Amino acid sequence: MSKPVEPSEDEIIRSWHVRARAYDDLIGRWSIFTEMVDRLIDLIPSDFAGHALDIGGGSGLLSERLLDRHSNASITLVEPAEEMRSLALHRLGDRVEIRDVTSHEVGELGIVADAALCSASFHLMNENTTLPSVAAALKSGSVFAVNLWGHSFDETATLDQKVDWTVFVDLALCESGERPLPRPKRAPSRLRSADGLRRIGEACGLHLQEKQIVESRIETRFNIEFAAMTDIFLDHVAPVRRERIINRALELCTGIDTIFSVDFRFIKK
Ligand SMILES: C[S@@+](CC[C@H](N)C(=O)[O-])C[C@H]1O[C@@H](n2cnc3c(N)ncnc32)[C@H](O)[C@@H]1O
Repeated sequence: MSKPVEPSEDEIIRSWHVRARAYDDLIGRWSIFTEMVDRLIDLIPSDFAGHALDIGGGSGLLSERLLDRHSNASITLVEPAEEMRSLALHRLGDRVEIRDVTSHEVGELGIVADAALCSASFHLMNENTTLPSVAAALKSGSVFAVNLWGHSFDETATLDQKVDWTVFVDLALCESGERPLPRPKRAPSRLRSADGLRRIGEACGLHLQEKQIVESRIETRFNIEFAAMTDIFLDHVAPVRRERIINRALELCTGIDTIFSVDFRFIKK
């Protein structure tokens, strides 16, 4: 059997462009995204009033929360997916500057920022090019606060305890006389390590000062909602029946998962 291939950067960005609206709805319903963002904001100085970079800023959740807590701050939100930028513009208007660049192009913007933050996005980025780029855009002494989903970090990759949500989707499919869910061929997450991040950081002037592993509990049905954001999910079912089957799977789904995320605080030397 052929091995699943890691998607290219363009494919990743396109996939977020396509599911931007569904993602924006999802983060409104599931507090884990806001909790992750708030913990990163806790890592910058409590009296922050400078210029911040929101990297992989998506539809603007982090920028919005940062401005709520630091009303004198200014922000450049960096986001390469067009539909995400349009949602961020809708959410934030002219309260932030929005730029169509990737994480490894941040250093070429000509911005010298007082902080950089990156939530729920770093696992999609290449740390070898992103860390030097972020370092180039930061003033000495400023913070880069970034998190990683536990599935992309070596110390936590095997810790997630998940109920098999696909069982509930198969039940809903079966009730409707449909074939079971085709098992997705997904490349396993590329694992980062604290040592690896520390080494890349040191080489570009970012000192890894703090790492905190956070355990969260979340209803198993979150995974169904997450999978259903992409239109390839249940694409073997007629579009008119798809939504009903997803809703039925959500109804049937029980269970609580334990998932991990990891917060890092780098300081620009
Ligand atoms: C899961 S969303 C997170 C959005 C936002 N930070 C939040 O917390 O809601 C991931 C975002 O990272 C963006 N992204 C993916 N690869 C990127 C890259 N190389 N540089 C910058 N952003 C990237 C995607 O377009 C997407 O909007």
